[in-house]
Amino acid sequence: MKIRTAGLLFLFLSITFANAQQPIHLIPQPVDIQVQRGSFSITKSASISYNKPQAQAVADMTAQKLNMPTGFGIRAQAGKKGAIRFDLNDTPDSKLGKEGYTLDASSKGIIITANEPAGLFYGMQSLLQLLPKEIESKTATTATWTIPAVRITDYPRFAWRGIMLDVSRHFFSKEDVKKYIDQLARLKYNTFHWHLTDDNGWRIEIKSLPKLTEVGAWRVQRAGHFGNRLDPKPGETASYGGFYTQEDIKEIIKFAQDRNVTIVPEIDVPGHSMAALAAYPELSCTKATVSVNPGTAFSEWYGNGTFKMLVENTLNPSDEKVYEFLDKVFTEVAALFPNPYIHVGGDECYKGYWAQDPGCQALMKQLNIRHVEDLQGYFMNRVEKILKAKGKKLLGWDEILEGGISPEATVMSWRGVKGGIEAAHMGHDVVMTPTTFAYIDYQQSDIDPPIYASLRTKKSYSFEPVPDGVDAKHILGGQANLWTEQVPNLRYAEYMSYPRSWALADVYWSPKEIKNWETFVPRMETHFDRADVAQINYSRAVYDAIIKTSLKNGKLVLELDSEVPNLDIFYSIDDTMPDAFSTKYSQPVELPDGPITLRVITYRAGKPIGHLIILSRDALQKRAGR
Ligand code: ACM
Repeated sequence: MKIRTAGLLFLFLSITFANAQQPIHLIPQPVDIQVQRGSFSITKSASISYNKPQAQAVADMTAQKLNMPTGFGIRAQAGKKGAIRFDLNDTPDSKLGKEGYTLDASSKGIIITANEPAGLFYGMQSLLQLLPKEIESKTATTATWTIPAVRITDYPRFAWRGIMLDVSRHFFSKEDVKKYIDQLARLKYNTFHWHLTDDNGWRIEIKSLPKLTEVGAWRVQRAGHFGNRLDPKPGETASYGGFYTQEDIKEIIKFAQDRNVTIVPEIDVPGHSMAALAAYPELSCTKATVSVNPGTAFSEWYGNGTFKMLVENTLNPSDEKVYEFLDKVFTEVAALFPNPYIHVGGDECYKGYWAQDPGCQALMKQLNIRHVEDLQGYFMNRVEKILKAKGKKLLGWDEILEGGISPEATVMSWRGVKGGIEAAHMGHDVVMTPTTFAYIDYQQSDIDPPIYASLRTKKSYSFEPVPDGVDAKHILGGQANLWTEQVPNLRYAEYMSYPRSWALADVYWSPKEIKNWETFVPRMETHFDRADVAQINYSRAVYDAIIKTSLKNGKLVLELDSEVPNLDIFYSIDDTMPDAFSTKYSQPVELPDGPITLRVITYRAGKPIGHLIILSRDALQKRAGR
């Protein structure tokens, strides 16, 4: 027992401190790491080799990534003689599959092997993470470019490891989209779900329907919280927005392919279609003129996901013109994107305008449908036929299960995992992306600007994508979703994405058995330092106190906690600024009656580390559910 403990301790220390300067802190955590003695230093006389032409691209990319920060002029050459070798296996190693790799670093050099170029690409990402953080520098810098001797065998748990970016609520330029894709590829994500259309902007050029981007890509400029913004004024110029030309899209697809990322485009119908209706109002039931919405209070929400749209944003399922429109859209989308899937949305479709519409009522009669909700099934089945004719598979949010859909349709479970479980039991393939673990637009702690709900990094880390009792073969994998109502630029997209997308990278890549929050925390902290050098933004909200309240015998009870271990939490309720000499939290406390304000701050090893959080009695009371 003693020996085992000592052995484990040695293993921990050797993994953490294999080299005094560079702990082995990879994200996602590889399947297996064997730490060896020694290290290898990359010098300016180092060379890179590749054994087959298909391995050249990653070898060239590695040279480029090394040369920028080191200032070296390392070149990649065909053969097997490089200090850094990229070797594609002659006989596939079945354990590695399409995306796995081995990385063998010794004092003699580095050999990365894989069955396919994708695996070599991921081997390169691990190699870069093994180098000191200065490797992230955008300019030539000095460092000892040493990697510890190590043997890694690695392959993903799930085939679908995605991130969704909503470019409708806010527009992200072509360069920003590329940067974001590059960042997710470093984390071994392989799917970019591109939410291209919504009420607030249509972002993809459709040549046969030019008004979609002439009109639909532009809204009036507005400040303030999304959902409470001022309506467009009559005659006001729609000056905010943008779209991707088909040439832009081809360029982004190629950029992504070079990084083993496939792009799933989303055209969100029949709801969330106000931008399309601003361009072609004849496709709605009322045919009313609408504007591309700048984030006004256009809906009312009643809890449990029930809501009413105050402005029509749905296509009319009873109008053949709608299907002609969709045929044109999907013809061009299918021709552009090589991915077998097209995401057709299907979420949050308000049926109130359908219920009032004589055409919809006639169609319901003809189809012998009693509930207006079932028109969604009719609509989705029509859309699926259109996609099938173009050789594409239908993917949609879990609402597509309502009203019936063919078993070949793939379901993205977002309203928790319930839809995913139901879909998998029915034989559908499923991508898990529940709000409860994977919605990275939610607040990370009390410091973040308010948005619909809260999701801490530790919670994301705890996600298990295969629910009990579900056949794992139907769970393709999972995603993080970044909706951008409150995300106006890439810098803030990064802030919302990290570290939660680091946590989810472990969830979707690493074996379930080795997932461990305590070992993730130091890896995350190493990546904070690396992100600083890379000038990638991230949130430090993991250091903020978790503040919970409850009501006990009419009294408000306060509970404080932290995500990161070994933090000290100090607080005040006497309108003083808390520090390490204030009351230290140790157990739940009953708060006194009266108009108190809670102030909380965390420290680590005697130094403040979290944000100061300030909550009024009203906020604390509300948190207790009253
Ligand atoms: C969604 O969040 N409306 C899919």
